[in-house]
Amino acid sequence: MADKKILALIDELEKNKTLSDNDFLFLLSQLKHADEETENYLYTKADTVRRKTYGIDVYLRGLIEFTNHCKNDCYYCGIRRSNTNVSRYRLTKDEILDCCKTGYEIGYRTFVLQGGEDAYYTDEKVCDLITAIKKQFSDCALTLSIGEKSYESYKKYYDAGADRYLLRHETADPEHYRRLHPEELSGEFRKNCLYQLKEIGYQVGCGIMVGSPGQTDLHILKDLRFMQELQPHMIGIGPFIPSAGTPMHDQPAGTLEDTLHLLSILRLMFPQVLLPATTALGTIHPTGRELGIKAGANVVMPNLSPTGVRDKYLLYDGKICTGDKAEECRHCMEGRMKRNGYQVVVSRGDYPETR
Ligand code: 5AD
Ligand code: FES
Repeated sequence: MADKKILALIDELEKNKTLSDNDFLFLLSQLKHADEETENYLYTKADTVRRKTYGIDVYLRGLIEFTNHCKNDCYYCGIRRSNTNVSRYRLTKDEILDCCKTGYEIGYRTFVLQGGEDAYYTDEKVCDLITAIKKQFSDCALTLSIGEKSYESYKKYYDAGADRYLLRHETADPEHYRRLHPEELSGEFRKNCLYQLKEIGYQVGCGIMVGSPGQTDLHILKDLRFMQELQPHMIGIGPFIPSAGTPMHDQPAGTLEDTLHLLSILRLMFPQVLLPATTALGTIHPTGRELGIKAGANVVMPNLSPTGVRDKYLLYDGKICTGDKAEECRHCMEGRMKRNGYQVVVSRGDYPETR
């Protein structure tokens, strides 16, 4: 039998979009051994909230992983600079434009340029890319996911035409941040980047890995408080998955359930936020992305990178879709959504205020 107290907290979260610290911690701890009735109550409530803003629409983002060179050495990430087993690549401008062209033809209206922090891509090169993409695909939104930069660089990209920026904060707790990253990286710097991006005018996305090594409910609470302060337009969360060639290769993965619970909590807290059901979620469970959508997510980000490089952009082990072509992923995704009562749409899929 579902615990009435938990159901009441879920109702309160929907109504007030927040809870006290103690109630959040209680909810998070109880959800870990929740029965099916409680879980379904949470998922259905979150799905109802997403339907109020977005109906059954699911937005597509075409992900172009354009470089796997990275100067950073995050302990969890498969393309960290110390991982000498990675065969490094960079896509050329023409290859990137080709990806966009293919993507455009099959209905993508948002492109996400994601890469490691690669010094080869100077601001000049990045701006040149942005200008070229926006010129050729002027009805598309362009999202950057290329890490920590200076205010001036972010401003240049924005002025060149970039619309959105994804930069997961990874964890809002300084000690937990230290456990996941080497000395030279700082959680404070990263959070500050997000505020700068917002100030410049980007639609911004922050986020975390669920079940990253050392993560506690208290850390998640701090993440929720940080998100309430930042008020992001997008929140990217997916399970931590161990990656060979990293110091965290033998750590346990985050779970499907913890990720789904958190997706629903985020949907209730941020009714209009753009919330992807991530590839990592699809990697730990065959229908993880569909379950994510049913738990309140409204975005999917299929891969648009050329098949020749897909198996080189491995942030974690077992990543799905590395052998599939862009068209295959696009149609696969359409079917997956349809079978569950949702529809992928051909649209930029902006945050409601900015539409
Ligand atoms: N497992 C899951 N997600 C990961 N990321 C990086 N490494 C892993 C991993 N091992 C996520 C980080 C990063 C995003 C691009 O991918 O949160 O911000
Ligand atoms: Fe890539 Fe299904 S989304 S094959």
